[in-house]
Amino acid sequence: MFVRWGVTLLALAVAVNAAAVPPRPQVLLVGNSSLDTELFGDTLDALRVMQNEYFESWIGTWPTAIDWTAAVMGTQVAGALYSLSEGFEALRTSHIYEFSMSENLISLYFTQLVSFYFGQDALSLRAQAYDDMLWVVLGWLDAIKFAKDHSKAHFEAGPSQRPAQGWYGTTWFPAFAHRARIFWHLASVGWDTKLCGGGMNWNPRLMPYKNAITNELYISASTAMYLHFPGDDNSSPFIAKGEEPELALNTNWPPHDPKYRIAALDGHRWLQSSNMTNRQGLYVDGFHISGYKPGDDNSGKKCDERDEMVYTYNQGVLLTGLRHLYTITGEPKYLEEGQQLIRSTIRATGWNIESNLPFENPATAKSFPPWHGLGRAGVLEDACDASGTCSQDAQTFKGIWMHHFTTFCIPLVERLATMTPGVHTRHVNSHIASCKEYEAWLRHNVNAARNTKDRDGKFGMWWTAGLLRDVTAFDLNVVTDVPKPDGATDYRNEGVPNTHLWVLTPTVSSSEDRKQRPMTRKRDALVSDVNDRGRGRTVETQSGGLALLRALWEISRLP
Ligand SMILES: *[C@@H]1O[C@H](CO)[C@@H](O)[C@H](O)[C@H]1NC(C)=O
Ligand SMILES: *[C@@H]1O[C@H](CO)[C@@H](O)[C@H](O)[C@H]1NC(C)=O
Repeated sequence: MFVRWGVTLLALAVAVNAAAVPPRPQVLLVGNSSLDTELFGDTLDALRVMQNEYFESWIGTWPTAIDWTAAVMGTQVAGALYSLSEGFEALRTSHIYEFSMSENLISLYFTQLVSFYFGQDALSLRAQAYDDMLWVVLGWLDAIKFAKDHSKAHFEAGPSQRPAQGWYGTTWFPAFAHRARIFWHLASVGWDTKLCGGGMNWNPRLMPYKNAITNELYISASTAMYLHFPGDDNSSPFIAKGEEPELALNTNWPPHDPKYRIAALDGHRWLQSSNMTNRQGLYVDGFHISGYKPGDDNSGKKCDERDEMVYTYNQGVLLTGLRHLYTITGEPKYLEEGQQLIRSTIRATGWNIESNLPFENPATAKSFPPWHGLGRAGVLEDACDASGTCSQDAQTFKGIWMHHFTTFCIPLVERLATMTPGVHTRHVNSHIASCKEYEAWLRHNVNAARNTKDRDGKFGMWWTAGLLRDVTAFDLNVVTDVPKPDGATDYRNEGVPNTHLWVLTPTVSSSEDRKQRPMTRKRDALVSDVNDRGRGRTVETQSGGLALLRALWEISRLP
């Protein structure tokens, strides 16, 4: 029995390297837990396609990505590596997997991540918006977290082993930590108390706009710096002396610096009091400041002009920060806040968590399932998905939600010394029980998204299309506009409006934040595969499929 599975999984590993379609082992029972090896194989395959099709080792990047989406791709690979390490270990302890084989795969993807350290256009990112910088911080801290766990699991303990040397991946910590530290500090300049009583500003070259994403990133990146940053003593002049004199002189950056914890708590307090959620409990995009005049002293002006646009990623990034804030403070209210946000998000896809069914059953519905705010028929969607009009930014969003959801829900093992073990266990168990309730919804999304894969295994952008197989491609093609809430500006897809509300000098055409790769396809052509419309399948849509499969894999393994 074990031999047979061993052979199957051996074939799987070979197939990954040979870029063939992996075989599909069925559910394998291991002791009293079951491992869905088909799901694990599919996750591995999504990563293989992402890296084989879109990553170029010789320049150390995904050339079709833009700077910020490439930073997110790095995060997705680091997250996938974490799951591979743990998943392979579960298979190995069942005597069905060779360690050298899994280690070879992990090294393959990890060395690609290392080459991305050099391929990342750090100089260009330094001059971009504060959110762009913070994706960089999160990505390298995720890489550190994975390497630390992988090293601990296999290379640092055990009586039979030679003196612990640690996994070679940990020798990259000084590089990753330095990049994370530099970018955290560059971005932290965006924290401003003159307007709105606090909050991160989005982009220093536009009119002030305090948006959800920059603030969520600041909270999550600050908590991750507090918990996972290993320290840095590299004074390399990434920061010009005139720019940040204090930073240029200091050469000792310790781990667990309280300033990161304080930044995260300040950021969270401000976001919570900012009135940035709508009646569905979802984060809207952000706040303008009415009456702001460039050049005037605008002190004390308020965040009072809310943009009602709702994107998936704004419901996701905060989850990492909330999980970490629990670890930092021991207060379960942060976990509860995250669970509420997840529930609001799932409800807005048109899914009933109590009955584990979509509000409208697509199999029996007479008409096309209606929009619920972030999807329809129980599948997560951004508003641009159905019409095939997503920008490169938006193509990255759903994968981001999935990544941070997974970080939030994977078992909480860290415990602060000040936490009472019994109380901590109670919080952890209730957290896991809540996360487990989302499994059916995730599976529903996976079933839809799997059907959007093309012959090369590339995931489409609009997962819902995979669910609505009875609707003809023509019908799906003519489903276009999702109703926009009143007062919403879809600037992530349509560009920053050239108006006084957004830009300092509206007569000059605003090119900020519109650095997208040119589209190669005609937007409105009726095509037989709706996921070929617009930008079509890209490294960003592939990362979405990967992050979704990984989320289900991790949740399915919860007790
Ligand atoms: C799983 O099985 C082992 C050995 O049969 C047993 O000791 C353990 O209690 C079981 N765990 C659960 C959660 O059922
Ligand atoms: C919160 O924002 C909404 C939408 O802009 C607004 O109608 C409401 O009055 C605000 N609430 C508070 C307490 O400011």
